[in-house]
Amino acid sequence: MDRILVVDDDVLILQALTRILENEGYDVVSHSEPELAAREEGLSVILTDYMMPGMNGVELLGALAARNPKAVRMLLTAAADFKVASKAVNDAQVYRLLGKPWSLGELTQSVRQAVEHFHLVEANERLTFEVAAKNAELTAMNMHLEHLVVERTTGLLDGLISALDSRDAETQWHSRRVSLYTRRLAEELGVRGRELDVIEQGALLHDIGKIGVRDSVLLKPGPLSPEEWAEMRMHPEYGYRLLARMPYLHEASLIVLQHQERWDGKGYPDGLRGESIVLGARAFAVADTFDAITSDRPYRKGRPLKVAREEIARCAGTQLDPKACAAFARIPEADWERIRARVEAMELEEAGRSGLLRSAAQGGS
Ligand SMILES: [Fe+2]
Repeated sequence: MDRILVVDDDVLILQALTRILENEGYDVVSHSEPELAAREEGLSVILTDYMMPGMNGVELLGALAARNPKAVRMLLTAAADFKVASKAVNDAQVYRLLGKPWSLGELTQSVRQAVEHFHLVEANERLTFEVAAKNAELTAMNMHLEHLVVERTTGLLDGLISALDSRDAETQWHSRRVSLYTRRLAEELGVRGRELDVIEQGALLHDIGKIGVRDSVLLKPGPLSPEEWAEMRMHPEYGYRLLARMPYLHEASLIVLQHQERWDGKGYPDGLRGESIVLGARAFAVADTFDAITSDRPYRKGRPLKVAREEIARCAGTQLDPKACAAFARIPEADWERIRARVEAMELEEAGRSGLLRSAAQGGS
């Protein structure tokens, strides 16, 4: 039940107020001495006379504030004190001012509204708190989900890459190097945040469509016939179709689709030109050229960075985006070395793992 404190030094008035409010169904605490009233707590509403000996109503409300911070305060005042009392109202210390003598209807209605106000404020505070708590919960849940998506995407991509690798050896490490090179280059081109992850994913998967190219074409040792070339050149579209079905890989799938396009429009599948090719695919083209020159091939050793720099500068504006080439030229050699070393370490670790697997399988047979 709502606890209402009533204070008036005039005992007759106090009794009348108490009776009226008890009839309204409230738990009424009454005091004729403000000093005693000041010790009360657990109040929903305080109704006090203004003019009292020793302590006036505004002072009493001030004294009660610490123990009853949310109590709704009402001041009873005779017309003569109206000016002082209304200052208290204007200072927002008092919810409502009641005149003396009061009308019964005005008194009971004002107290009812004060009690309602008390509950509204309380409910509002509780809801605000609950909303904040729910929000924090949702934020945490979202972070967890995002983390899960990243984790599963990484797992899925690793699976796709090794599926391709099992048919076309060497693809995996080339793809991993190029994806990190492309990311570094995109960073130099001003790309930030999630967009960098997308570009890295697209570059990693660039040749995934080769899964759809027949072995007789993909693994053919000699030169390809025109028909075989036509099939080989389908791989960006195969890759795109594979990935575009996964909504979170859609952006990356555009890089896959466009990774064989050229700045001058002489690439495939669509002969896109200039900036109509997505930035990730333009950065990829530079990174891919760089990797092709500097990596060891079955038939030759990788050539030094200087050769790659010259070749990339030569292709700026024809095969390659000149801005991406300029960005490439700005990146220090140590950055490329670091990426290469990182992928080499991954390769060694993988070789160790499959070596262990193999010896375990032999030991068991
Ligand atoms: Fe390709």
